[in-house]
Amino acid sequence: MSVNFEHFLYGGDYNPDQWLEYPDILKEDIRLMKQAHINTVSLGIFAWAKLEPAEGVYDFDWMEEIIDRLYENGISVNLATPSGARPHWMADQYPEVLRVNEMRQRTLFGERHNHCYTSPVYREKVRRMNQKLAARFDSHPGVILWHVSNEYMGECHCPLCQQAFRDWVKEKYHTIDEVNRCWNTSFWSHDYQNFDQIESPSSIGESSIQGLYLDWRRFVSYQTTDFCRAEIAALREAGAVKPVTTNMLYKSPWVNYFELADAVDIVSWDSYPFWHKGPESQTAVNAGMRHDVMRSMKREPFLMMESCPGAMSWVPISKLKRPGMLEASSLQAIAHGSDSVLYFQIRKGRGGYEKLHGAVIDHYGKEDDRTYQECRQIGADLEAIGQIHHSKVEASVAVIYDWENRWALEASAGPRNEGMYYREAVEKSYGAFRRQGVNVDVIDMTKSLEPYRVVAAPMAYMFRTGFEEKIRAFVERGGVFIMSYWSGVVDENDLCFLGGTPGGLMDVMGLRSTEIDALYEGESNTLHAVDSDAAYRCEHLCQLVDLRTAVPLFVYGEDFYAGTPALTVNCYGKGQAYYVCADAEQRLYDDVYAQILREAGVRRILEQEIPDGVAVSSRRDADTEYIFVQNFNPAPVTFCPEVPDGEVIFGETGARMKPFSTVILERKTTDE
Ligand code: GLA
Ligand code: ZN
Repeated sequence: MSVNFEHFLYGGDYNPDQWLEYPDILKEDIRLMKQAHINTVSLGIFAWAKLEPAEGVYDFDWMEEIIDRLYENGISVNLATPSGARPHWMADQYPEVLRVNEMRQRTLFGERHNHCYTSPVYREKVRRMNQKLAARFDSHPGVILWHVSNEYMGECHCPLCQQAFRDWVKEKYHTIDEVNRCWNTSFWSHDYQNFDQIESPSSIGESSIQGLYLDWRRFVSYQTTDFCRAEIAALREAGAVKPVTTNMLYKSPWVNYFELADAVDIVSWDSYPFWHKGPESQTAVNAGMRHDVMRSMKREPFLMMESCPGAMSWVPISKLKRPGMLEASSLQAIAHGSDSVLYFQIRKGRGGYEKLHGAVIDHYGKEDDRTYQECRQIGADLEAIGQIHHSKVEASVAVIYDWENRWALEASAGPRNEGMYYREAVEKSYGAFRRQGVNVDVIDMTKSLEPYRVVAAPMAYMFRTGFEEKIRAFVERGGVFIMSYWSGVVDENDLCFLGGTPGGLMDVMGLRSTEIDALYEGESNTLHAVDSDAAYRCEHLCQLVDLRTAVPLFVYGEDFYAGTPALTVNCYGKGQAYYVCADAEQRLYDDVYAQILREAGVRRILEQEIPDGVAVSSRRDADTEYIFVQNFNPAPVTFCPEVPDGEVIFGETGARMKPFSTVILERKTTDE
């Protein structure tokens, strides 16, 4: 289903359950929300103790009153299931709901997100709660979306999870011999004699079987997704028909979000870029990539479920957002395909861990407050550009960022145990494309490559089953493929390919990777263009290759492999396959990818040269393209976006763009 709300959702997490003793504040919140153009709140995320104060005693009246009052005032609700944190009584009465850590210690009550995903008791408690919420509230016209749980995270090593893991392994491999073969357990004589011996990885137990580690990661992801599916099933069993989401974080090592995305109707996530730390232009590129990961899971509009209106309180240094930053950051989400700008949170909490976390309404409680005024402005912005909502981002370029590859690559001993920089490598490729002003999808190895002209797969260490064939077919029919160092080393079981790497693609790439040199921090090498004076630095990893049919475009400048290929291209079928051998500086990617896109005939959104720190992206609906141009520099830039037959629908154009300013143009596409 493609979830389409009537307009952009604007608002955020609202926790009136922490303010029930303050009736005046609840009233005032609504006034301030309306004034700020807020039309949606996420309600009840951590409210279990107020919803079920004692086992089996449910109190939903307060919530109904709040939903009614919001609705009467034009504010809709994303209604949460409260499974992200449970009441004390439950942990006291049923200790199995609490997690066991990898040292096999059961945790005490406290914090949140720390329940066992396997525990039948917890699953049953959640099922009942969700059914009751669905029965009571799904039909409320003010409820528009189910917000299932909150940022599922973590893992549990309790006896129930161990058994569930054994069952999962058994279902996957059927026999213990097959487990031993796929995990290569003959290493150090760690062969299993039976399934009962299988235990999750632990620093006081098994940590040397990388196949076990990888399957444990897959199991945790599976079990978490299964828990989410069970939550949704409970809502549906009770008759819920409203769409469902669950808010993701970005760096989650626990859940493969490309799998979790399949369980929900619309993807949503929580965006917390570290603005004003390091160059703004780079933060903007990385923040944009995160939105693009979320959009690419379904290739549909997504929701930015949380973002911080002021300074985050959980970071080492809580830096204020400079004037205009929040607007730029919010509109960036829209530019990349979000149908919402939602915050954590509407009103700043009075006590507890998040009492100093930025919010729309400060403890001061009045509207003459800088953050509130900025929020109010953004609410007005979203109303002014309402026609853009539910339009789509179309990309003919993709970068592969794969959760399973990341697990395997980071867990593997060697070639650098002090940082492989996989995510950073993906960010470099992504950034190089984005600086050319093209939309970019960020997909995993399971996705179809059909929609794309150019695909980059940085550090594709593990080829998931079927990936080689997909790449071969893509290049054969004319695609441009870019792969980098440390690719095609192992198969889906983390077993090394025999007979040469990149496994199964040596002919497509036109080379064999022979050895890889890992450099100490601070060391570097150089790459020199074969047909010009261009030269760039590289660090961390230098792959050495033997050419078959590929030709070198760059060679190494230093060390015993000076003069050997450092960047190559091979013609295969109707397409080309590039191989970047080393962790080169960003500039190399920028320059080489610019040329690759030109040669591949990928249309840039703007034809002009784009200054550093200016981001360009676009959304489309049936007959219109909406072009977003954003200056993420803290200083003005000389730039005036020009779009033939384009009309400015937001922001000011002139010779210069102000710091953190946005211009949106629209252009009819009917005669394309
Ligand atoms: C997360 C959580 C929220 C809140 C914010 C604070 O994203 O989902 O409940 O804790 O962080 O930044
Ligand atoms: Zn458990």
